[in-house]
Amino acid sequence: MSVRALYSLMQSGEARLGGGEGMQGIYGSITQASMSRVLDALAAETALGPDSVMLDVGAGLGRPLMHALVSHDIKRAVGIELDDVKVAKARALVRNIDRANRIDGRQLAPCIDYVCSDIADAKAVHTDDVTHCYSFWEGVPPDAKEAFGRLVQKSDAVQGVAVVQRAVRGESPEQCMHGWGFGSLVLVNTFAVSMAGSGRKMTAYIFRRDSGVLTPSPRTLPLEEFCTPKTQETVTDDATPRDRAKAPKRRRLSL
Ligand SMILES: C[S@@+](CC[C@H](N)C(=O)[O-])C[C@H]1O[C@@H](n2cnc3c(N)ncnc32)[C@H](O)[C@@H]1O
Repeated sequence: MSVRALYSLMQSGEARLGGGEGMQGIYGSITQASMSRVLDALAAETALGPDSVMLDVGAGLGRPLMHALVSHDIKRAVGIELDDVKVAKARALVRNIDRANRIDGRQLAPCIDYVCSDIADAKAVHTDDVTHCYSFWEGVPPDAKEAFGRLVQKSDAVQGVAVVQRAVRGESPEQCMHGWGFGSLVLVNTFAVSMAGSGRKMTAYIFRRDSGVLTPSPRTLPLEEFCTPKTQETVTDDATPRDRAKAPKRRRLSL
């Protein structure tokens, strides 16, 4: 199945299920073209491919996971989602897509585990073999970001992390992630992405796991995009005073 055919099936399937609304959390996805760019960057910079296991924190209806299974033929996908309505819709959606696609290629449902849980309570979820993580974490609360950070930091297997959010201001993205407890990540790419439906602009940050010290990669992209030294305010736009207190002190990064 092509990615285009997948998105067409996702759209018709979601329309039948009543869209992405649920009972909790904000829902939204980035466009097919934007998600392709995120996955291609993870592949180019962090070796996303057929041996990879991808986790989506706040998986919604599972669009990014199904996209990765089809476009990059990843081995397995895990979606953690707080909202049981969205989890039920995600399971129904992938079953319907498989039914419509019985002849043409890989069945997706057997390759995806949807777990209905708050990421902060997801100790029982099997994530030991997760190699790549994605989160469109706009609206995801700080304690969930910290739980995600702990999961990445304690993993030996994670190679790449992609997050989509509003542009980071007043701090480098690496320091932001460090502040959320992700340990040492190197920013290897960043670019604007668009939300499906509204077209609202967000920013994708692609990180590679780094075993060394917090050092920007030579490929780190325009610092002025996310370092605004005159402003004092935020780690991320939705940071709380507690997050700011916990965030590492700002320093200018030099290339
Ligand atoms: C912006 S949506 C992204 C959905 C999906 N990843 C996509 O890109 O299509 C964020 C999702 O995170 C979920 N969420 C929010 N807080 C969460 C938490 N603490 N644990 C797990 N999921 C959470 C929301 O219910 C929502 O579905």
